[in-house]
Amino acid sequence: MSKVYVTRKVPQSALDMFDGKVDWDVNPDDRVLDRDELLAAVADVDGLLPLLTDAIDAELFDAAPNLKIVANYAVGYNNIDVDEATKRGVLITNTPGVLTETTADLTWALLMSIARRIVEGDRFMRADKYVGWAPLLLLGSDVFGKTLGIVGIGQIGQAVARRAMGFNMKVLYSDMFQLAPVAEQLLNAEKVEMDELLQRADYVTMHVPLMEETHHLIGAEQFDMMKDDAYLINASRGPVIDEVALVEALANNKIKGAALDVFEDEPLMKPGLGDLDNVVVIPHLGSATIETRTSMANLAVNNILNFLGGDAPLTPVNPEVIG
Ligand code: DGY
Repeated sequence: MSKVYVTRKVPQSALDMFDGKVDWDVNPDDRVLDRDELLAAVADVDGLLPLLTDAIDAELFDAAPNLKIVANYAVGYNNIDVDEATKRGVLITNTPGVLTETTADLTWALLMSIARRIVEGDRFMRADKYVGWAPLLLLGSDVFGKTLGIVGIGQIGQAVARRAMGFNMKVLYSDMFQLAPVAEQLLNAEKVEMDELLQRADYVTMHVPLMEETHHLIGAEQFDMMKDDAYLINASRGPVIDEVALVEALANNKIKGAALDVFEDEPLMKPGLGDLDNVVVIPHLGSATIETRTSMANLAVNNILNFLGGDAPLTPVNPEVIG
């Protein structure tokens, strides 16, 4: 029987699908395995179900000579050296699709929270500071009718754009890819260069994968281009924003605020970020609903079962491995 290792507990109903089909084990502790533990755990496995917090690289492939499939429990796979995997004939899969709408919902929750000062208001109430309605209390910014700039118009970017229709927003997007004219018309969306997007958008939201080309896509130069009353939202990957430059931009009111689900050195925040009032920070919760985390687990488990059982994987990242 093939052997499979899961690096951290995921919804049990998905793991139960392994029973009777593969010999499987899971990290019993609800924590990230340290490197030595991870390398020891993969020594004789055929399949691995890791998280975005596990680095899957040449050293790991060396430690796992039988490894045939790595089913990442995330749509993003910047934690995996895919070229190295492909060279060694190891199939990589991810979890696209199942988390699109949930992540778009969270993006909007961040946008609304920073625009309408929801978290500040909550802190204000809990500190017993509310003494009565006041005309100038915690004034935020309107969302409806404003311009939303979407950097990366993949599945999640498009789902964010669909939600903007309800707020009667103009959508600008930047990507190598262009939406079909009918989609652009429906979404009130216009493709522009990124500099133009930064200059015109009231809300800029990041939906690009992390790779060399997108590392620090937003830094000091970009903050200078943005409107001083614009907001930045990030639920993609932390390093697409230069977080030190962001702290500086927020502290000096170069932009009005930011709402972040992800951080450059996760789980840490750059010094000063958490001291600012004009920022909302949450711990990488983009896909964190019961339904979606279960669907992600089902997809990852089915990718492993299909592949080890001789069937096609559902969502391969490097299909060239199977020809
Ligand atoms: C992903 O899937 O890449 C998210 O960051 C976690 O769901």
